[in-house]
Amino acid sequence: MNACIRAVVRKAVYEGIEVAGVRRGFAGLMEGEASPLNAHSVSGIIHQGGTILRTARAEDFLTEEGQGRASDSVKKLAIEGVIVIGGDGSFRGAYDLNKKWQIPTVGIPATIDNDIAGSDLTIGFVTALNTALAAVDKLRDTATSHDRLFIVEVMGRTSGYIALWAGLAGGVEEILIPETRTDLDEVCRKLEEGRARGKTSSIIVVAEGDEAGGAFEIGEKIRERIGYEIRVAVLGHLQRGGSPSALDRILATRLGAEAVDVLRRGEEGKMVGLISNEIEVFPLEHAWQEKKEIDLRFYQLSQIMAI
Ligand code: F6P
Repeated sequence: MNACIRAVVRKAVYEGIEVAGVRRGFAGLMEGEASPLNAHSVSGIIHQGGTILRTARAEDFLTEEGQGRASDSVKKLAIEGVIVIGGDGSFRGAYDLNKKWQIPTVGIPATIDNDIAGSDLTIGFVTALNTALAAVDKLRDTATSHDRLFIVEVMGRTSGYIALWAGLAGGVEEILIPETRTDLDEVCRKLEEGRARGKTSSIIVVAEGDEAGGAFEIGEKIRERIGYEIRVAVLGHLQRGGSPSALDRILATRLGAEAVDVLRRGEEGKMVGLISNEIEVFPLEHAWQEKKEIDLRFYQLSQIMAI
């Protein structure tokens, strides 16, 4: 997000537009917490995770009264356009501000879950993926040396993107994601088959939203069925921090600059996204009216690779 804030600020300054940073997202907007940002304010942040503007859940913003307060702040601060960086919930807020309160808004997709239609990649996903992959690689050392089965739980809410991509890149034996049916008997059968072929260790990556439950629960169920020596790792918020990958910084920079151009062109109620390596612009509602499908060919490939 910092790389994106930097891009928005620098592109706006380049175009002769003044920028104010709103602290704590919609929560801060309702309180009018904004201060000017210039090119220097965003120096030295491109490599830092998180957001210098901070963020917050803003339940009040879901109400008419909360949005009214936000709209008043926008007017009081003489803000002519708002760029919102975030996921589905943030986009819905940006949509309301535009449609109900006539404030020009543009959304930039940023979530490690990579679950926003209108962008092949969302800011943060690749960095989280690399973190998950690094963990899988490290866990494999113990799995191999100690003949163990590891179950690694990754984030993603209801999306299996981190699990699928980290699992494929990490060459794991099983990937359990919400987008496919999970049959633990079948998983156990394959583990047993692998053991019969001489496999002494295995790794299962499970997405937190999988129907089979969390990693500990799955571990218990597998232990009951086939009695493996099992260890569990839940990666949690490790995946949401750290220095962004090169790809994320470039994505954030491209999307941030385009968002400024969208407002300059007088377009509003839009989102920017990356489709086949080109920046595209869609109405904000595209993000929830369309469903972003995960590419299950990745899943099939992972199964072939696990033989
Ligand atoms: O949506 C991003 C995400 O990191 C999910 O992957 C995860 O389930 C959730 O947010 C965690 O939210 P919180 O930080 O509020 O616990």
